[in-house]
Amino acid sequence: MQKNPGRLRLLRERPRDDEAIEEMTAAAFGPDRFHKTVYRLREEVAPIKELCFVCIDQKGRLVASIRNWPILINERWPAIMLGPLAIAPELRGLGYGKALMWYSMAQSRMLGHSRIILVGDPEYYNQFGFRRDLALNIQLPGWVEERRFLALELVAGSMIGVHGMIGKAKAKKRSVRKKKR
Ligand SMILES: CC(C)(COP(=O)(O)OP(=O)(O)OC[C@H]1O[C@@H](n2cnc3c(N)ncnc32)[C@H](O)[C@@H]1OP(=O)(O)O)[C@@H](O)C(=O)NCCC(=O)NCCS
Repeated sequence: MQKNPGRLRLLRERPRDDEAIEEMTAAAFGPDRFHKTVYRLREEVAPIKELCFVCIDQKGRLVASIRNWPILINERWPAIMLGPLAIAPELRGLGYGKALMWYSMAQSRMLGHSRIILVGDPEYYNQFGFRRDLALNIQLPGWVEERRFLALELVAGSMIGVHGMIGKAKAKKRSVRKKKR
């Protein structure tokens, strides 16, 4: 039985967490992760900062992380791409992954999002409502193991009629307000 780490703090990801997240993700997914199609959609795109969370233990160590990215399906339907989700090896199987998933999904809905896609083990992600059939009419711009390509409706029916290629969300232009002279 794993040791209970006691109280963890769940926070929005901070700039200083970046290095620890990279280390934990590298340990969890290995060096091949950058070749994955989902990474192509993350290149030169910032994650949605309101939807990136970390867990910090009582010694201040980062022990879990989840990130979400903006995507656009067929240049028409905005969606979220979830991942990576990683829990420190010594804390796996204690429910932190589930807690972070539910929290992240709830926050996504509160911010007005209605659909999420991810590439991950259906044996794990089915429990949150992610389904293969919801992603049958959408494509990623590269190879993906079909059975692991899943979608979730945060709003019932939000994947109905959604089809086509997934691309990066267009960067929002900064509005430049002219000063009154
Ligand atoms: C996968 C991961 C995020 C799960 O987080 P966690 O905190 O360990 O998991 P939880 O405690 O919330 O859930 C544990 C349950 O999920 C199951 N589970 C964990 N990983 C699984 C997987 N890859 N496939 C199927 N089931 C899985 C466990 O068997 C356990 O089942 P139980 O509740 O019936 O006992 C974590 O193990 C991890 O970081 N793994 C390495 C990175 C990774 O694989 N990320 C997911 C990408 S697919």
